[in-house]
Amino acid sequence: MKKKTSYSVTLGVVAALGAAIGSPIQAQEFGPVPIAEVDAAKAALGKRLFFDPRLSGDAAISCSTCHNPEKGFADGLPLAKAYPGTDGFRNTPTLINTALKAAWFHDGRLGTNLNDVTRESITETYTMNMDMRLMQERVKQDPIYLEMFEAAGYGEPSNGSIRKAIPVYLATLTSRGSDFDAGTMSEEAARGFELFTGKAGCAACHSGPRFTDDTPHNTGAPENPDIWSDPKRHVTFVSFASFMGISNYMNLRRDPGASIRTNLADGSDIGGFMTPTLRELRYTAPYMHNGMLETLGDVVAFYNGGGGDDPNMDTRIQPLDLNAGEQADLVAFLESLSGDPLTSDEHVWPDKINVNYTAFDNWLEARN
Ligand code: HEC
Ligand code: HEC
Repeated sequence: MKKKTSYSVTLGVVAALGAAIGSPIQAQEFGPVPIAEVDAAKAALGKRLFFDPRLSGDAAISCSTCHNPEKGFADGLPLAKAYPGTDGFRNTPTLINTALKAAWFHDGRLGTNLNDVTRESITETYTMNMDMRLMQERVKQDPIYLEMFEAAGYGEPSNGSIRKAIPVYLATLTSRGSDFDAGTMSEEAARGFELFTGKAGCAACHSGPRFTDDTPHNTGAPENPDIWSDPKRHVTFVSFASFMGISNYMNLRRDPGASIRTNLADGSDIGGFMTPTLRELRYTAPYMHNGMLETLGDVVAFYNGGGGDDPNMDTRIQPLDLNAGEQADLVAFLESLSGDPLTSDEHVWPDKINVNYTAFDNWLEARN
């Protein structure tokens, strides 16, 4: 049975929570994720590009191959696929609400903007493996794109405007319609919310409209052994780690996480990962940066047991001693943070993209 109530928590309550667990908390208020106003023509162009396999080197995969709308713009796999011939070493994150993040990727290694994240996704060898110059020529051969770039005010298709249009589309991917926001949580979920902001201590890191502090922490999530036993994943990991300047990348048997950014001499930053949003979790299993926890019940049981076994683990993660009913309440609360799936034409390019068009006559002479 659902009851209509409003569940806003004031900063006062969150501050009290900070005092209770003995550490200062910079928690933000909960509430719906703000919907961005975007230019419709630019967003439509970004949407087509997002679903277009011609943005990958061999035209086999698009952004949506891994960020699948049916799966909350993730892929349902523990570890991502990668450019054909290799496999990935991290779990694909949802892109819903990604435009509001402060730093991107599980290790937070890109802290600038989505234009850079888009460039990285297109050119990185194990993601789309695309040469920007080739991409531009491909896009310029498609008469539909010529019209769409013009309508978006970008003039002729260019690398730069491709990297601008995709982030505009990403800004349209916003959570909406959850029971939490509507004030229609079940009684179970409402009890779960009390635990979440109270004795379970979750809001110490998961707060604000997206339920994240946009900061890395170590929860002790176990390593995913497939990264080292599967050569197609290991080769990707090695290429990443060597490029990031990690000296023992061949022997390394753990994901360094956020330490690639902070590089502390004592290694206490190894194994920290960005706090993920808790929105839309119903669609995005399995969980954690490497997909090691299969269900929300598993995640709650993991925290209830005091997290993992890692000397760098955040001291705020402690055994919780929640009984089965309380754990179920927390799961019900987490589920109440999932809203309408973003699977209609509003967010999905409706047609299969036709690549058998007649190129316009003088494309070779077109200015770049
Ligand atoms: C082969 C699968 C794959 C493809 C294709 C792919 N991504 Fe991703 N994406 C991932 C994975 C895996 C991560 C996390 C990587 C990490 O943490 O190191 C990610 C991370 C991201 C993030 C950061 C999300 C966050 O919460 O930090 C954005 C934004 C993103 N991708 C956008 C795109 C766009 C745009 C494209 C197309 C140009 C694209 N991706 C193509 C797998 C993919
Ligand atoms: C010290 C900060 C901190 C606290 C406290 C904390 N979390 Fe987390 N949470 C994280 C981080 C960091 C991750 C990502 C870990 C990773 O990727 O390996 C995470 C991951 C998760 C995930 C997986 C999300 C996904 O998309 O993979 C869920 C669900 C979650 N936490 C729920 C909770 C609940 C419920 C509590 C309270 C019992 C809690 N967290 C307490 C920091 C925290």
